Amino acid sequence: MEQKREMWSGRTVFILAAIGSAVGLGNIWRFPYVAYEGGGGAFVVPYLIALLTAGLTLLFVDYAIGHRFRGSAPLSFRRMSRPAEAIGWWQVGICFVIAVYYAAIIAWALRYTLFSIGEEWGDDPAGFFTSEFLQQDSDAVFGFDFVPAIAWPLLIVWLATIVILAFGVQKGIGASSVVFIPVLVVLFGVFVVRALFLDGAATGLDAFFTPNWSALTDSGVWIAAYGQIFFSLSVGFGIMITYASYLKRRTNLTGSGLVVGFSNSSFEVLAGIGVFAVLGYMAQISGVAVDEVVESGIGLAFIAFPTIISEIPGGPFLGVLFFLSLVLAGFTSLISIVQVIVAAVQEKTGLGRVPSVLIVGGITAVTSLALFPTTTGLNTLDVVDNFANNIGIVTVALVTLVTITWVLRQLPDLEAHLDAVSSFKVGLLWRFFAGVLTPAVLTWMLIDQVVQRVQDGYGGLPDSLVNGFGWGVQIAIVVVAIVVSRLPWPRDTDTTPPPLL
Ligand code: PHE
Ligand code: NA
Repeated sequence: MEQKREMWSGRTVFILAAIGSAVGLGNIWRFPYVAYEGGGGAFVVPYLIALLTAGLTLLFVDYAIGHRFRGSAPLSFRRMSRPAEAIGWWQVGICFVIAVYYAAIIAWALRYTLFSIGEEWGDDPAGFFTSEFLQQDSDAVFGFDFVPAIAWPLLIVWLATIVILAFGVQKGIGASSVVFIPVLVVLFGVFVVRALFLDGAATGLDAFFTPNWSALTDSGVWIAAYGQIFFSLSVGFGIMITYASYLKRRTNLTGSGLVVGFSNSSFEVLAGIGVFAVLGYMAQISGVAVDEVVESGIGLAFIAFPTIISEIPGGPFLGVLFFLSLVLAGFTSLISIVQVIVAAVQEKTGLGRVPSVLIVGGITAVTSLALFPTTTGLNTLDVVDNFANNIGIVTVALVTLVTITWVLRQLPDLEAHLDAVSSFKVGLLWRFFAGVLTPAVLTWMLIDQVVQRVQDGYGGLPDSLVNGFGWGVQIAIVVVAIVVSRLPWPRDTDTTPPPLL
């Protein structure tokens, strides 16, 4: 028997879950740096253009697909056209790859929440992070030498994910977002306010907001703006297709999308303010320019921040707020990526929700636990992350847009669907952005990224690692996607498109 589709109890729950997915590590540790490097205050120009032409546009594409075809990514594409199913599995594959390493970072943040209390990194946070905590072996390329101190928090992250997903769309994902998102906003809000009272905060904000207009003539800045928007809104790889498929038939889609997009961007700016206030303090006590203390990603969160926390009176309080925010922001995003896989497997196998969660959660957790809590896990993570975000997401978004616009000619129907239920009508401009402008930008980004990696490899890391975990993984995803898309659906699954609204 075909299972009855799960549903969000209402639009607010859906919006909170979608914000939970969008607001993640990228908002906190990626945006401040990208914006600063991309011209500070001047970055607002490429950022807003990327948000309007690509971010919101793709968010609406994802919503329209999921809501119109009412399925996980593979089933939605299957209902659109039989051969397109492979695109859905490709998106699922990308989610799998992101999930396995994203969880590891959340596990570190969980440990660092506790480390903050006693400032356990001592007076060498860099050495503490790579040698003492992660126990990285700089001579080895890849291995399975286990580091239990990372494995157990990672296990906790996976168990929590599995339990929440097992409770289902409304009672698990929805209910947890309703709690976690407000808590995150409060915690991070307190963090930012406290940061603003540090000496030197104003210098930091000055550095962050001072516009460098000449950055706008640098094509790299535009690529960075589009890259940030794609990653940050997590559009184009199945997450919003899946979440929108659980909405009631008559739901204002574009209105919800605008709320989600605006909330995500607000959280980025808020993070920029908090992070640069703290960096301004650091610059002041070390007597250097802000430029010399700016960092991004793992280095910012796990090395620069601990260094600063040790210097601040009441630092542990600020540390706990910061790392707990990372945990919450990351965890709600992790849930959304894993649900993409769960929904796909559940529909393709016809199994119930709980067995599907156990199978998917089990396989993802074991892969994650085997690869990352090891003495070579940090470099592996770096490569997988870089290729998933700069090559994988960009390619699948490009292929999706070209297929639905030019091969299957779905945009007019999707537009009609969005406009039939939404307050904000998308119109011809949306079709132009989705079908022409964004694919053009994505092609340009992809060429830029591929050329860079072919010429220079990645991050000075060994070719075997880059070829295996970078190119190899991305190619394997496509091959597996094509194979899985050939397997039959359960006999009672309706693979015809539902009627237009
Ligand atoms: N959008 C999230 C962020 O800004 C990242 C994310 C990536 C979320 C992949 C889900 C899936 O951090
Ligand atoms: Na985000």
